[in-house]
Amino acid sequence: MTAAMRTSASVISTFDTTFPVTFRWGVATSAYQIEGAAAQGGRGPSIWDAFSHRPGTVVNGDTGDVACDHYHRWESDLDLIQSLNVDSYRFSVSWSRVQPQGYGAWNQTGLDFYDRLVDGLLARGISPFMTLFHWDLPQALQDKQEGWEARDTAYRFAEYAERMGRLLGDRVASIATHNEPWVVAVLGNEQGIFAPGKKDVPTMLRVSHNLLLGHGLALQAMRAAGVKAPLGIVLNQSPATPATESEADKQLAEQEYARFVRWYMEPIFCKRYPDKTGRPLPDNIEAGDMDTIAQPLDFLGINYYTRIWASSSTPPVPAPNKDGVSDMGWENYAQGLTELLQGIHRDYTLPPIYITENGFAEADTVAHGHVNDPGRLAYMQSHLRALRAAMAAGVDVRGFFYWSLMDNFEWASGYAKRFGLVHVDYATQQRTLKNSALWYREFVKSQRA
Ligand code: FCB
Repeated sequence: MTAAMRTSASVISTFDTTFPVTFRWGVATSAYQIEGAAAQGGRGPSIWDAFSHRPGTVVNGDTGDVACDHYHRWESDLDLIQSLNVDSYRFSVSWSRVQPQGYGAWNQTGLDFYDRLVDGLLARGISPFMTLFHWDLPQALQDKQEGWEARDTAYRFAEYAERMGRLLGDRVASIATHNEPWVVAVLGNEQGIFAPGKKDVPTMLRVSHNLLLGHGLALQAMRAAGVKAPLGIVLNQSPATPATESEADKQLAEQEYARFVRWYMEPIFCKRYPDKTGRPLPDNIEAGDMDTIAQPLDFLGINYYTRIWASSSTPPVPAPNKDGVSDMGWENYAQGLTELLQGIHRDYTLPPIYITENGFAEADTVAHGHVNDPGRLAYMQSHLRALRAAMAAGVDVRGFFYWSLMDNFEWASGYAKRFGLVHVDYATQQRTLKNSALWYREFVKSQRA
């Protein structure tokens, strides 16, 4: 037994939380954040290529051109995943790698890449959890019709979903349509800090509706094609805490929650947009859309990082941040995961849930071959406890995916923020397991014993 294993084993013995033996343990990534090879293998550009190449959009002018070079290193990366003892891996497909323009011709080289990736995972005993859209819309659809502003993009997305479903639907463990549509709508089209970089509320509303419509159409198309894999969507969610007991703060918290969580949950589970959002309805809803959106889900993926802190005063009342703050400035608030899950369990009739992302950014450095990341370890352990508490209270959660397998292109933060269990030296592409990874691999093993 190595010293590292002894250390992690003793950490395990003080961590007494146990999960059902059938619980799935995984790590997550997304295509644009890790693949690189942006102009190779016939891949067309996506809106994130265009956005990141625009000066002033990403910290240090970073782009996903090379990223973790996963496109070339996928086999050793799959070995790395296997070495973590996890049984599941969540990845996303780059739409413009398999269909360079987002309409028309398919790129066989791109399709083959994901075909091999899935087989490579299965050969290593790892279940593939596939996401179809993790924000990297083909740029040709943006150029042609302003991307998700156009209703037609929802139909193009359904076509793409059907193609991927037919190709991989009998081998993957699940297919999620979108990852975090709130981010695409709000950060991409209202705040303009993510691709495509627009700043307009009516546009944001229209985009959010077309994303939801695309989700519903994609589920219909995949089901009509006989896709066997469980189908769902991944939403980012947080509870909202009023900063004080004031009516204004309570109302603000309710509004934030309505915009963040209920805006996506209610169309999917109740066939309507929520009230108390302080927003008009999207102006592009057509007859029948709400029925299309509200397709039954086989699972719901939830990404949880932190809570929303609602303070209506100027200057705002700060969050207590008693358990620390990540390098992103996000409060470590594990109890929020329990609160969130219990809240949605109370408010909606839910399918089985997977925690499809949860993670912590730290300014990690390698010293003598080791990466000490105590903040990440504390975050993981407290969130696993919070998750177990929600399950004990009756919430049906089937799996957990740490974000992320390895450090990668963190969107507008570029390579400056590190979320990985595995450290990446971008100059050499050297991968180094952080202490949190050593802990996670022993923890996962202990759960199966
Ligand atoms: C989520 C994204 C993921 C990653 C984490 C930190 O919003 O889905 O790609 O950037 O945040």
